[in-house]
Amino acid sequence: MSRSERKWDHIRFALENRQNRSTVFDDIKFIHQSLPNINVSDVRLNYLIGELSLSSPIFINAMTGGGGEKTYQINKQLAIAAKHTGVAMAVGSQMSAIKDQTERYTYEIVRKENPTGIVIANLGSEATVENAKLAIDMIGANALQIHLNVIQELTMPEGDRDFFGSLNRITEIANGVDVPVIVKEVGFGMSKETVESLISAGAAIVDVGGSGGTNFAEIENKRRKQSLPFFNNWGISTPISILEAASIPNNIPIIGSGGFSSSIDIAKGLAIGASAIGLAGFFLQILVQDGLDALIEEINTLHSELTMIMTALGAKSISDLKHAPVIISGETYHWLTQRGIDTKQFSQRKIK
Ligand code: FNR
Repeated sequence: MSRSERKWDHIRFALENRQNRSTVFDDIKFIHQSLPNINVSDVRLNYLIGELSLSSPIFINAMTGGGGEKTYQINKQLAIAAKHTGVAMAVGSQMSAIKDQTERYTYEIVRKENPTGIVIANLGSEATVENAKLAIDMIGANALQIHLNVIQELTMPEGDRDFFGSLNRITEIANGVDVPVIVKEVGFGMSKETVESLISAGAAIVDVGGSGGTNFAEIENKRRKQSLPFFNNWGISTPISILEAASIPNNIPIIGSGGFSSSIDIAKGLAIGASAIGLAGFFLQILVQDGLDALIEEINTLHSELTMIMTALGAKSISDLKHAPVIISGETYHWLTQRGIDTKQFSQRKIK
């Protein structure tokens, strides 16, 4: 199967596989405030994450490019939506365009459509410093994502089997490029130990990419003759991954992603420690099924709903939202207790 057929397979199966709204955030509940002492017009959604100045904490996470005309069209429309709504956008893995120059246009369109927006390059952890520089230059990127996708590769019939040396390559890339390096998972989450290793490798930001949303084990299992069903329920949920990463004293900026499709879950992700939230499958589904205008409308709706939620909590800024008191219960509480991560700090704090 050619690379571009595989890219299209991923999009097709990701859309077929979308279930109802993820429930992984149901264990997190905000404590209601009857006296928030705030006006809706006081709320600001902008935030500085590492060196990246975002006008919104919501962004379009890495999906596609490198699969010819169909992926060009998707990237073009995602870029138009990003420009209209002021959100940042990552492209899918650019290795295909590094190996085959004729695929460059499927990524370059993102910068053409959005000359001044925040655009993020993307490669896997097999990339070299040279590859990383090419990917960044290709789209004039403001940051580079390096994705970790061991479970996807293992489940993919034609996937990689050698994961040796990823951390060393990440260190070389972080030292060798002049934009911030974001290391991301693709839906299996990260433990605090993984995040600690990435900090020591020089990652500027981590995107925990937890389970609960797009499931690449299920997608790849559909493409296999003999499936590996044990990987379908593998991984660390998105809220647990954010809380694991946030428990590290070092304070590396955290991106939450994996399963976001509502403003309330976005608010919860930010409140428990993320500084930005990436959405992939949900935005792709709206774009492919309902079109560009519907995607722009959805992002605008998420912004206005997030503003309402922040008003209800008395949070004027994303920094305030990070102090909103929340109760953590259920399996998430059980996991964190087993891992020695304190949950009381979240329930007993307040917005000053
Ligand atoms: C992805 N994702 C992804 N990630 C990455 O780093 N490089 C890539 O090339 C791709 N390709 C890709 C294709 C498609 C069709 C989808 C839906 C997703 C993973 C994506 O960025 C994200 O980490 C996961 O999809 C989890 O987030 P959602 O989809 O649950 O919001």
